[in-house]
Amino acid sequence: MPLTADPLTAATDAVADLLEATPAPKRRGTLLIVDDEDGPRQSLRVIFKDEYDLLMAEDGPTAIELAQKHDIDVAVLDIRMAGMSGIEVLERLKYVNPAIEAIMMTAFETTDTIRQALRLRACDYINKPFDLATMRSAVSQAMQRRTLESEIHSSAEKVQELLTELQNQRVEEQIAKTRGDIYASIIHDINGPLTVISGFVQVLNQRLNRNTRLELEDLEFIKDRLRIVGRQVGNCIEISRRYLGFLRRQSDEAPRVCVKQLLNDLEQLVRVHPSLLENEFNIIPFGDDIAVKINGTDVIQILLNLAVNAFQCAPLNHHVQIGGEAIYAPLDLAQFKDSPNDRLLNVESMDNTAPLVKFSVRDTGPGIAPEVLPKIFQPYFTTKGPQQGTGLGLNIVQRLIKEGNGALHVHTQLGVGTTFTVYLPGANMAK
Ligand SMILES: Nc1ncnc2c1ncn2[C@@H]1O[C@H](COP(=O)(O)OP(=O)(O)OP(=O)(O)O)[C@@H](O)[C@H]1O
Ligand SMILES: [Mg+2]
Repeated sequence: MPLTADPLTAATDAVADLLEATPAPKRRGTLLIVDDEDGPRQSLRVIFKDEYDLLMAEDGPTAIELAQKHDIDVAVLDIRMAGMSGIEVLERLKYVNPAIEAIMMTAFETTDTIRQALRLRACDYINKPFDLATMRSAVSQAMQRRTLESEIHSSAEKVQELLTELQNQRVEEQIAKTRGDIYASIIHDINGPLTVISGFVQVLNQRLNRNTRLELEDLEFIKDRLRIVGRQVGNCIEISRRYLGFLRRQSDEAPRVCVKQLLNDLEQLVRVHPSLLENEFNIIPFGDDIAVKINGTDVIQILLNLAVNAFQCAPLNHHVQIGGEAIYAPLDLAQFKDSPNDRLLNVESMDNTAPLVKFSVRDTGPGIAPEVLPKIFQPYFTTKGPQQGTGLGLNIVQRLIKEGNGALHVHTQLGVGTTFTVYLPGANMAK
């Protein structure tokens, strides 16, 4: 089925097909007659031979053998038989095929025996000697019930098939949707480095156009800017590789990245980022030498997205600070309570084993209103103008942290500011 097919329409069509399907041509029912007396056996043969396929058994073992070989719909059993009693035969027949409908013929049986037969799921009982009309109607009703039950059974199977198909389709759709989100993410994440690249290319152009001859100083300037451009291009390539890897569902061996190096790279990136503007920004270096067990570009992407949000959260100049520490015990998750000002994400998938690395991105911006806070991680939710925000940043942040088996906490207060705290699995640096 094509991916784009709406699952509801597909399901409705399939149900319509199911209902409209021409029923398979009815086969004649198969009737088994079990009686050790020849007289009643023969009279039943005469009554039913034109209507059903008949199987005759003069004792229990023959009846059971026939049931093993044929698809029997209804059995008429004499209760009182030499050797195996009708009750015993009934029990064994139901064991061979529980769907067989059984009608018991009784002569002088006690109500206890009849009750026993009914308990064994005989559908009817008829007194012997039987009259023709009663016997005909009992067998015909049993046959109808059997047909109905097998129809219900096959419909249930079809419905089950349909449900499975529907579920497969939903999974496919979900995958397609995630794929779309990933493409959007690539564009979003590559946008940062591209903005930097384009800024530097402009500066280089200006410098080159201004001078007809290049002095040593100009060459140094150009070399330095080209180095930055080169690094940003490298970032773009790594971002696209990472996402393409994710699309192919590859998972590399758990990486270990030195946090100090990461924060150095991040600082360089932030210092030249256009959203920094006149805002005050600083990174507090980690006291300990520690590594994170997550792809380095993922951490930079997470922290850069959070930092850019922090810069953009207010037009007025404010302070943004990135810091963190190594934590040498599992987090006490009970201390985190969701509230109008707090939210903790990804705890279910978090690997809460020490050591952990904690990063925090704090701003002294306006804070997030309690009615907005629950929405900020939804894809495409943004309070920025249409040309300014895609609303994907925090969704990407959350997804990267989840993939890295980390957790994310946000604490905000109107008029005071917001702090996003990221917890990631850490590793001691090899000495
Ligand atoms: N530090 C913050 N202070 C105040 N509000 C914030 C902060 N960080 C995020 N938000 C709110 O969360 C919303 C969603 O953020 P997200 O990063 O997902 O998208 P965006 O920043 O609007 O768009 P994009 O990331 O594409 O530029 C923002 O529009 C903003 O309303
Ligand atoms: Mg953002």
